[in-house]
Amino acid sequence: MAIALVHGQCADPADPTEPIPQDPIAMTSRFSPDCRVLVFRRVVLALCWLPVWALASPARGPGEAAPRERISIDGGWRFHLGDAPGSDWRLSYDVRPKVSGVDDAKAADTEPTAGVAVSDAGARVLKAWILPTGNAFIADPAKRYARPAGDPGARVPYVQAGFDDRSWQRVDLPHDWAIAGPFIEKGPGGGMGRLPTAGIGWYRRKLDIPRADAGRRIFLDVDGAMSYAEVWLNGHLVGGWPYGYASWRVDLTPYVVPGGVNQLAIRLDNPPDSSRWYPGAGLYRNVWLVVTDPVHVAHWGTTVTTPEVSPQRASVALRVAIDNDSSAPAEVSVASSVYPIDGHGVIDGQAVAHLAPASLNVPAHGQASVEGNTVVSHPRLWGPPPGQKPNRYVAVTTVSRDGRVVDRYQTRFGIRAIRFDPNRGLFVNGEHVPIRGVNRHDDLGALGTAFNLRAAQRQLEELQAMGCNALRMSHNPPAPELLELADRMGFLVMDEIFDCWYRQKNPLDFHLIFRDWHEQDLRAMLRRDRNHPSVFLWSVGNEVGEQYTGEAGAAVARELCDIVHQEDPTRPATASMNYAKSNMPFPAALDVISLNYQGEGIRDTPFFAGTKAIHTLPQYGAFHAKFPDKMILSSETASAFSTRGVYLFPVTDQISAPVRDGSGGDSAHQLVSAYGLYAVDFGSSPDKVFRALDQHPYVAGEFVWTGWDYLGEPTPYYSARSSYCGLIDLAGFPKDSYFLYQARWRPDLPMAHILPSWTWPDRVGKITPVHVFTSGDSGELFLNGRSLGRRVKGPFQYRLRWDEVRYEPGVLKVVTYKAGRVWATDEVRTAGAAAKLVVSPDRTVIRDDGRDLSFVTVRVEDARGTLVPDADNPLEFSVTGPGEIVATDNGDPRSFVPFPSHQRPAFNGLCLVIVRSIPGHPGPIVVRASGAGLQDGTATVSAEASAR
Ligand code: GAL
Repeated sequence: MAIALVHGQCADPADPTEPIPQDPIAMTSRFSPDCRVLVFRRVVLALCWLPVWALASPARGPGEAAPRERISIDGGWRFHLGDAPGSDWRLSYDVRPKVSGVDDAKAADTEPTAGVAVSDAGARVLKAWILPTGNAFIADPAKRYARPAGDPGARVPYVQAGFDDRSWQRVDLPHDWAIAGPFIEKGPGGGMGRLPTAGIGWYRRKLDIPRADAGRRIFLDVDGAMSYAEVWLNGHLVGGWPYGYASWRVDLTPYVVPGGVNQLAIRLDNPPDSSRWYPGAGLYRNVWLVVTDPVHVAHWGTTVTTPEVSPQRASVALRVAIDNDSSAPAEVSVASSVYPIDGHGVIDGQAVAHLAPASLNVPAHGQASVEGNTVVSHPRLWGPPPGQKPNRYVAVTTVSRDGRVVDRYQTRFGIRAIRFDPNRGLFVNGEHVPIRGVNRHDDLGALGTAFNLRAAQRQLEELQAMGCNALRMSHNPPAPELLELADRMGFLVMDEIFDCWYRQKNPLDFHLIFRDWHEQDLRAMLRRDRNHPSVFLWSVGNEVGEQYTGEAGAAVARELCDIVHQEDPTRPATASMNYAKSNMPFPAALDVISLNYQGEGIRDTPFFAGTKAIHTLPQYGAFHAKFPDKMILSSETASAFSTRGVYLFPVTDQISAPVRDGSGGDSAHQLVSAYGLYAVDFGSSPDKVFRALDQHPYVAGEFVWTGWDYLGEPTPYYSARSSYCGLIDLAGFPKDSYFLYQARWRPDLPMAHILPSWTWPDRVGKITPVHVFTSGDSGELFLNGRSLGRRVKGPFQYRLRWDEVRYEPGVLKVVTYKAGRVWATDEVRTAGAAAKLVVSPDRTVIRDDGRDLSFVTVRVEDARGTLVPDADNPLEFSVTGPGEIVATDNGDPRSFVPFPSHQRPAFNGLCLVIVRSIPGHPGPIVVRASGAGLQDGTATVSAEASAR
């Protein structure tokens, strides 16, 4: 199968297509007096995004409304937990099954079971009013929903403009109401992160809609709301969207009072027992007001493809859908120009191609599309580093009516050709690119799910430094800005929509609404994300229960893949399989074979003989033989566990072993050894995964489970709060395994990494195996200057092992070699007593926009500057100057210290402090760390004025 693609990012999700406001005073006229703070935030926000999002600004005369405005309304919300007394049951989306005794700690590969049917006959719920919100994403007009009569909830106090919400909490978005805790320490709940996500949350905010907006369309765009959102404006139920990971729009226009009071109220309802990981809670992504002419580019209404790509020329096809929300037909002219953009998304040069004006008749209350083609000569291609550069373009589309510009819309895209080769893997612009990917969950550690651009960028930077070139969005679409980052940094993305279909993994998970919403949710993701050059593959599901149901399950897979092909004929569709085998109906429905753990075998060692659960011999060969025309990749590998800085003895002499007490695990203390050899029962160590990949070179590559630790799913110890499977811990500190992947994924980077740490007063004379991860091919180990011998990596070996070393204090050093020459060295030394704190910000200059962050590492060192590897000193943090501590963490999955706390013990020598600027307040921020008996550490982060 060969598919040539060009993809762009539609301007809508993350892109103010309106010029960035330059004049804060003029801006205030858009807001009522009680919104002055918001005005400020709006300006600041717009400015801070300038380098990221600013593109060509359409010229406009004084007083003339821009054809399209996209206004951040993240500032100035009021928030309240719980419904108004007496109103709760009337506002539910639907009736839910009653559940009790949920097993929160079940293995991830437990077979999903049939969902429970609930009768809602006669129930007064709001579902019928919410369903019409998704109509634009239902292909068959006959299946769209009509809004019933009535105005449910209109009498509820929280939706009234006159309701006094001053006692509610002031919040700015993105907001995750659960992340501050406190942790729910006892009982089940480890699966969802032990944080108070469940329950009802209300958000209220006034909107300033000037009189001049009368006659324009006013939309509310929500990038993500967890979950079951219901929106009221001025007491009228407008609509809503249940799936918490979807981006969606409601049309406020019918309920807006231009020039009057406009009270927005949003109710969210997070079920318990609804997720296998921490879902977050609240309006956790950005929220926008979009104001347009009645005739305008439809929501996510542009599609860019390139049927042909070569170094000499690329053909670019642009389809533009225009909505006419007026009662008369509209004759419009649609023209577009293509410009190169730089790494920040800013136009960088003259137009390189034009799509000539095309006339289009758009029926009243209808939609029409126009498609045009052009050619870009000598295109600058988009491709993943290090071999290629992630170059991009923007198509600027102008819609005119009677000589007046009624809309201007920008679609960013990249030009690239991707080939899915069943025998050799993935090719991008002719270069073979092995997939060196990781899975990611949506949370940002101590910041929860509240999206923060810098925090997401930091995650991706650390992954890229490891050599990672691909991300799987497990198991839901990310914030739109994350895909913008992926485009900009050159990651390949497997974008995924669901973790379950009709069959449930948790009693109140998405299966409850799959029947009613799968089409809308899937089409919404595809339309939102299909122009991103980073997205190379769509996944319609992860380890769904329908793998087990033969033809019936395959039929659901086919239905979903058909939707993918309708919305995007240029990319393949897949679903990840941990159970379905090559001879079952399920994989035949998919374009690409995505295996979870099956490639290297699941519980295929004698250790598991006779036990229940999935047993599978290595499956790459069987799938390749059965589907010689389909590319195979591993969408989940490893799920190997470790606690950063923890080494447990004895160490297995196998290359992969399950975690058990006395073998990699310590259930009493909920610790897993960081040698990188121990995995979940159905998983494998990295070494075993690498061997399987190298023995089957037709496999396109892997996505490790996971790049970063995440909140929830703390297998194997469900009394903890966060996962053990990351190569990087929750605070962002690399674990040893990080370097095992770096050694493989960056073969040209001279590096060596030695483990374990070397301060073991109780182990003098005891066997303490030493392992080295290196991109070299051999190495010699020295203990206190004495050679302990030279080791060479044999075939299918990925680490150097000295398993017979007896501990003695001092210096342990490795000198590695590649092709006979010294390549890289590393050493660890025995630490003395903890003496001082060393504070190192990841960035010493941040913007004063109230969003930018510095991630500050605090190290506990001895007097000579050696990390004290088991230091757990209680520490305290403070800042002076125009900054605040948002959260702290130390990467310990067991810690129940709330994230906002300024006090936290070090964990194995390290701690993290997350510092944020104060909007509009430049200046030096001094970060201080102190601890009893330790010399304080300080560092200065300078907040600089954002460009005005
Ligand atoms: C997989 C599953 C992931 C995660 C992982 C944990 O089976 O797809 O979502 O649960 O196991 O090891």
